[in-house]
Amino acid sequence: MTRRIRKAVFPVAGLGTRVLPATKMVPKEMLTVVDRPVLQHCVEEAREAGIEHFVFVTGRNKAVIEDHFDLAYELEDTLRKRGKTKELEALLADTPAAGATSFTRQQAPLGLGHAVWCARDIIGDEPFAVMLPDMITLPGQRGTRCLGQCIEAYEKHGGNIIAVEEVPPADTHMYGVVSVGADHGHTFQINGMVEKPPRGTSPSNLIISGRYILGPEVFGILANVEKGAGGEIQLTDGMKKLAEKQVFHGVRFDGKTYDTGSKVGFLAANVAFALSRPDIAPAFRAELKKIVGSL
Ligand code: UTP
Repeated sequence: MTRRIRKAVFPVAGLGTRVLPATKMVPKEMLTVVDRPVLQHCVEEAREAGIEHFVFVTGRNKAVIEDHFDLAYELEDTLRKRGKTKELEALLADTPAAGATSFTRQQAPLGLGHAVWCARDIIGDEPFAVMLPDMITLPGQRGTRCLGQCIEAYEKHGGNIIAVEEVPPADTHMYGVVSVGADHGHTFQINGMVEKPPRGTSPSNLIISGRYILGPEVFGILANVEKGAGGEIQLTDGMKKLAEKQVFHGVRFDGKTYDTGSKVGFLAANVAFALSRPDIAPAFRAELKKIVGSL
């Protein structure tokens, strides 16, 4: 019997140096893709997957994130008085219920593993999801976004789950990579992980893509993990240790993932998400054709 996944951790304490100067004063998770912050796309994916409690691990200069997921009294009152009911209802529907969010601080950006560990007391003793908020996803054939597919796999197989995606073999040195054991197609058993393998040494071209289901035992391990790649406390190193005792499954997400933490990924995400929106796509497609036609 698996336990229900109720809580998700969103590590949002990184510096976002790849998209400077945009991130000098604005957290990279608050940059907008179409008409909502990147982080809101992620929270929507979590809600769709049944998550009830949203745990944000923030840092200095990130207070705007907390405000974004709260009521905005003056704005809402003005919309109400002006009869802008549709806009008001959309805002209220997006706002998590009272008590459904928690915020904790990672005082220094010591790495993703350290950021996840900062959520230990809020998560407690239950399995939970981790979502890297700069990775945003669009559904594929299965019709669900990435976390939904991870939770489905967890309910079927139990254990720990990591979403993966294929990259060209020449790019694997930039990512965490898994090696494949018993393969069931959409899911497979993971029998090894490595963070940023040197060129030519990667066990596969399946990279860890930003959605995880982990057992609470990972917290005890992360407390003792040494600094790894990049001088940071790596989540992958914690998961490797956990994999000595517990099973890990990979999920080949059948949709598309966009890395909004890089400039090109951010631009591609805006194009893809705009084209996926029935209200915007027709007008945007016409504009895009003009630009593409002139290339
Ligand atoms: P990244 O490595 O993509 O984020 O971490 P970064 O450090 O902000 O990016 P660059 O390389 O400087 O541009 C993935 C996620 O983990 C969070 C980040 O906020 C991001 O959402 N993170 C990373 C933390 O919360 N704390 C950390 O110490 C590191």
